[in-house]
Amino acid sequence: MNAANFVRIVEVGARDGLQNEKTLLPADVKIALIDRLSSTGLSVVEATSFVSPKWVPQLADAAQVYAGIRKVPGVTYPVLVPNEQGYERARAVGVTEIAVFTAASEAFNQKNINASIDESIDRFRPVMARAREDGVSVRGYVSTVLGCPYQGEVPLSDVVRVAKALHELGCHEISLGDTIGVGTPAKARAMLRAVAAEVPMDALAVHFHDTYGQALANILSCLEEGVRVVDSAVSGTGGCPYAKGATGNVASEDVVYMLHGMGMQTGVDLDLLIATGAWLAAQLGKETASRVTRARTAA
Ligand code: HMG
Ligand code: MG
Repeated sequence: MNAANFVRIVEVGARDGLQNEKTLLPADVKIALIDRLSSTGLSVVEATSFVSPKWVPQLADAAQVYAGIRKVPGVTYPVLVPNEQGYERARAVGVTEIAVFTAASEAFNQKNINASIDESIDRFRPVMARAREDGVSVRGYVSTVLGCPYQGEVPLSDVVRVAKALHELGCHEISLGDTIGVGTPAKARAMLRAVAAEVPMDALAVHFHDTYGQALANILSCLEEGVRVVDSAVSGTGGCPYAKGATGNVASEDVVYMLHGMGMQTGVDLDLLIATGAWLAAQLGKETASRVTRARTAA
């Protein structure tokens, strides 16, 4: 496989997608979703979050869901963990990959995890230490990298500082999140370039929400800059409940369609992914946000 041509898709629909849906899906439907996703050729399927069920009731069944999914060899199933309590809950059901999350904006972090940026990083230290001891790999998310719903502009220097701090703490990969989907291609490229000056490009991922319809264009500009890991959510579900106005992630189907059309490889079977997205939309009782799926259905 040609590394320059291969893009790893991190499928976040079962977590970032479902955490913001009004329709609460039962655990067995979430399990069916994850099992369908892991049979499409995706190698990373984020499964759920071990956050406070009071804060995110949609994912209160995290332990049941994680325990119930088929663990396909070669596929990883990371989960979000905000603190040691979440780490313990995750480990109790055998989780081996976690993601910690913070933001480049103080205002957003307070709303999302009730902590300042520095407090959140202090919370991660014991989690990181235990993960290292247990052989658990840790991804890090930086939110609001291209704008914040509460503070507006987010200085690039803050994005770089937080991404670097997570990398130095031991996160193997840092996902740069445009949480509210306000970014545009030149800004996305400049942001990635600034971070890549401090954190190696092969340890970076991009995570775009499609609120303003800019996500595919932003991804393309970041691919041109050299990134090869892209987060997306099947059917374009989701958003962050603590990011006012944020809508869904870019749809995985649309990202895979674009990449394959550019001659890049993902290992994902687009037809199976489209079928999974259509199935999920039916479960949620809403139209899919994937333009590719809509076009295929109309054809
Ligand atoms: P807090 O209220 O400050 O926490 O919340 P606390 O430590 O004071 O605990 C309060 C209560 O929560 C206690 O229960 C704890 O036991 C419980 P009580 O005594 O009141 O009954 N608790 C927990 N329960 C289960 N699991 C836990 C846990 N921790 C505490 N892990 C906290 C702080 C971080 C817990 C809370 O703010 C929280 O859970 N926030 C999560 C918010 C969230 O999930 N947001 C969405 C994910 S981020 C995102 O979507 C962005 C991303 O996609 C990238 C992008 O788009 O930019 C990643
Ligand atoms: Mg997100």
